[in-house]
Amino acid sequence: MRLFPIARTALFAIEAEKAHRLTIRALKALPASAPRHDPRLAVRLAGLTFPSPVGLAAGVDKDGEVPDAFLSLGFGFAEIGTLTPLPQIGNPKTRLFRLPEDRAVINRMGFNNGGQAAALARLAKRPRKGIVGVNVGANKDATDRIADYETGVRAMAPVADYLTINISSPNTPGLRALQEAAALDELLSRALDARGEAGPPVFLKVAPDLAPADIDAIAKVVVDRKVDALIVSNTTIERPNLRSAHAGETGGLSGAPLKSLALERLRDFRTATGGAIPLIAAGGIASGADAYARIRAGASLVQLYTALVYEGPLLARRIARELVALLERDGHASITQAIGTETGA
Ligand SMILES: Cc1cc2nc3c(=O)[nH]c(=O)nc-3n(C[C@H](O)[C@H](O)[C@H](O)COP(=O)(O)O)c2cc1C
Repeated sequence: MRLFPIARTALFAIEAEKAHRLTIRALKALPASAPRHDPRLAVRLAGLTFPSPVGLAAGVDKDGEVPDAFLSLGFGFAEIGTLTPLPQIGNPKTRLFRLPEDRAVINRMGFNNGGQAAALARLAKRPRKGIVGVNVGANKDATDRIADYETGVRAMAPVADYLTINISSPNTPGLRALQEAAALDELLSRALDARGEAGPPVFLKVAPDLAPADIDAIAKVVVDRKVDALIVSNTTIERPNLRSAHAGETGGLSGAPLKSLALERLRDFRTATGGAIPLIAAGGIASGADAYARIRAGASLVQLYTALVYEGPLLARRIARELVALLERDGHASITQAIGTETGA
């Protein structure tokens, strides 16, 4: 896997979505192994013990084909999905674009996935080792979108260590409207009812494109409804100073240009929730220093996707190693001691 620079050149010569499919297929051949995690990196959240705070973000393994391969590569947890109740083909191709000069990606996949039943059957066969979260969404043509989230929660709870309610994809028209306070309150009330007393923890994933009033309103609802954690954030529809040829494509932007916006939103949500809810950071994380900055800003865990495209499969391990060095530098005995230590934000 030290051959990644060569593999990357080959993969980058192929259309992005095809290269992604090839990668998933290659990972199916990866022998399962139990990675060793530094005990200082363990984080307890929502009743789960995450062996490392570095997780795989949703969208990489939408259908739950290879979660254990990602765990073998050193991720502390893997989030599969977004899965919708019914299979759907997503938006017309081409819908995934690399922006190499910006270390970024734009996607307008539109929740292409094989549906919850197929993923359920696949996941039911895997040994329950390592933390696998299931991210659920609504079908594009659903008449009652909230009902789709209830369906997803009920269907996937038996195989999920946690569930994520994703209302922040920019690629399903109108989906982000569920972030509006009244709609969000109804959504969470119904989804948490569907989860029941004994079900897995439920996380909510939000967009970075929110005004201060939206952030306060969302924070109030998630605290009142006792959501187990908030994932900040999904991709952005903003286009901050991009240089690559595909900068003008419609869709969600991820990777390096999202980094400062996602960090800013994390800080906003920390302030708005007053620390009442654990936070999970995503958006432009590509190094131990990036992950550490989010942890210091209040995140208990981090997730990444786009940096994997540019840095390769050993990235989770490298970030874990760099995090341990940063803990030692700052005299922390464990990662939990570093959470929220940033001051003056
Ligand atoms: C190609 C692609 C597909 C994605 N699909 C999903 C998805 O299905 N559900 C979801 O919640 N997030 C999805 N995301 C968003 C990522 O999970 C993550 O929140 C975002 O990309 C920011 O992290 P990053 O900068 O490390 O990529 C997708 C991102 C990309 C690049």
